[in-house]
Amino acid sequence: MKNNMALISLFIFYSFILSNNAAARLDNYSNLSVPGDNKQGYESLDYVTNAKAVEKRTGLTTNLITFIENPPLGLPSISNVKNNPITEAKVMLGRKLFFDRRLSFNDTFSCAMCHIPEQGFSSNEISTAVGVEGRSGRRNSPTIYNIAYATSLFHDAREDNLEQQIWGPLLAENEMGNPSIGAVLSKIRKIPDYQLLFEAAFNGKGPGMSTLGMALAAYQRTLISANSAFDRWYYGKDEYALSTSAINGFKLFTGKAACSSCHIINKDYALFMDNQLHNTGHGYRQSMLARPKTGNIQVAPGEFRNINLDFIDEVSEPEAADLGYYEVTQNPDDRWKYRTPSLRNIVLSAPYFHDGFFHNLYEVVDFYNKGGIVNDNLDPRIKPLNLTPQEEYDLVSFMESLTGDNVNKIVLDSFAAPIGDTGANDPNWIRGTNVEVK
Ligand code: HEC
Ligand code: HEC
Repeated sequence: MKNNMALISLFIFYSFILSNNAAARLDNYSNLSVPGDNKQGYESLDYVTNAKAVEKRTGLTTNLITFIENPPLGLPSISNVKNNPITEAKVMLGRKLFFDRRLSFNDTFSCAMCHIPEQGFSSNEISTAVGVEGRSGRRNSPTIYNIAYATSLFHDAREDNLEQQIWGPLLAENEMGNPSIGAVLSKIRKIPDYQLLFEAAFNGKGPGMSTLGMALAAYQRTLISANSAFDRWYYGKDEYALSTSAINGFKLFTGKAACSSCHIINKDYALFMDNQLHNTGHGYRQSMLARPKTGNIQVAPGEFRNINLDFIDEVSEPEAADLGYYEVTQNPDDRWKYRTPSLRNIVLSAPYFHDGFFHNLYEVVDFYNKGGIVNDNLDPRIKPLNLTPQEEYDLVSFMESLTGDNVNKIVLDSFAAPIGDTGANDPNWIRGTNVEVK
C-alpha cells in the first residue's frame, strides 16, 4: 500500500513536470525568431510540434527599405549600394525570387531552403548544406542577416559582389543544380509574371544576368538587424538593457578573452567582424588530425548518439577536403583561414563555424578557451584563455544579447513572400521548362 502511494505521488509529480514543460516550450515557440520546426523535446511522450504547414502561415509585409534608409541602433549607414539603388519594386522582386523553387533545375529548391528565415536565415538542423536531390555540400549555410556590410562573401571570401554571388548557388550541382546561366535566364523569361515585374523594377529591362543579381542583392541587403539589448546598453546608454552576466561577458569579450580583436566593436557601431580571414586551427584539425573513433551524431532533431564513425563512412561519401582561403590564393600560409563571421543574431544561426561543427555557443567558447588548435599558421590572437566556467557562461550570455529587435518583423515579412507552390492551378506556377502543365 505504502509503495503504491509512493508510486502514485511520483506519477502525479512527473505529470506535473511534463505538462509544465510542455507549456514552457510552447511559450518559447510563440517567438518567431526560434526555428519554426524546432524539435526540442522530441524525445518526450508529450512532444508537441510547432511546425506550421506553409499554407497555414500568415505573413505580414514590412517596408524593408526603412531598415536600409535608417539602420537600427548599432549599425552604420550602408555605403555600397550606389550601383544598385534600392527600390521597393526591386526588393519585392528579389524577395519573390529568393523564395521561388523554380530557380533550381528541377523546380524543387529555393535560396530560402538553406537560408531559412525562421532559422536565422541559415539552417539550424544540418551542419553542412544539402541541395537538390539530397546532394551534400561541405560547408555550413551562413546567415545572411546584415550581409549588406560584408565586403567579402563565402567562408573563404572568394566573392566580393552580392550581385554576382548568386551564380555560385544557382549553378553548383549540389545546391540548385542549374546547367548554365542561359538555362536559368531562359527559364525565368518563360514565367509570365516575372517579365512584368523585372520591367517595372528595371526601367523596361527584362530578366538578365545583371537584373537577376541586382534584384536578389537588393532584397538581401534589406535584411538588416540590430538594436539588440547590447546596442541599447552600449550605444543607447540604457543601463538596464543587459543582465549582469551579459555585462561581465562584454568585459571578457573586449578584455581577457580578446574576442573583439577580430569580432570588432567600434565607437559608434559594431559589425562584430573584421572582413578578414584567420586560422583558428579548427580547419587544420578537420583536415589533418587523427579522427576520434566515435562522434556525437544527431540522429533526429535534438537527439544525439555516440556513434562509431567507421559505420558512418560505410553509408556516406568520403568527407570533402577544405583548405579555406588557400583554395582562393594557392598560398600555403592561407591554409585553413576562414572569414570572421559577424556575431550579430548569433544565437539564431547554430550550428557554428564553416562546417557547422559546433552545435552551440558553449562548445565554441570552450574551443577558444583551450586556445583553438595549435598549427603553424594559427592566428597569434588565439591562445588559451583560462576562463572559469562562470566566465564561459557570461561570454555566452553576452552573445545571446546580440539578437536584433526586428528579426520577428523580417521573418513575418518573409512569410508574406509569394512562394509559388500552390499547385498547377496557380497561374504563376507554370514550369519554366518545356513540361506542359495540365
Ligand atoms: C543548398 C543550400 C543553399 C542554397 C540553395 C543557397 N545557398 Fe547561399 N550559401 C550556402 C552555403 C553552404 C554557403 C557558404 C558557401 C561557402 O562558403 O563556400 C552560402 C553562402 C551564401 C552567401 C554568402 C554569405 C556570407 O556570409 O558569406 C550568400 C549571400 C548567399 N549564400 C545567398 C544565397 C542566394 C541568393 C541563394 C539563391 C540564389 C542561395 N544562397 C542559395 C547554402 C545555400
Ligand atoms: C583571430 C581572430 C578571432 C578571434 C580572436 C576570435 N574569433 Fe571567433 N571567429 C573567427 C573566425 C575566423 C571564425 C570562423 C571560423 C570558421 O568558420 O572556421 C570565427 C567564428 C566564431 C563563431 C561562430 C560564428 C558562426 O556564424 O559560425 C563564434 C560564435 C565566435 N567566433 C565567437 C568568438 C568568441 C566568443 C571569441 C573570444 C573568446 C572569438 N570568437 C575570438 C575569428 C576570431
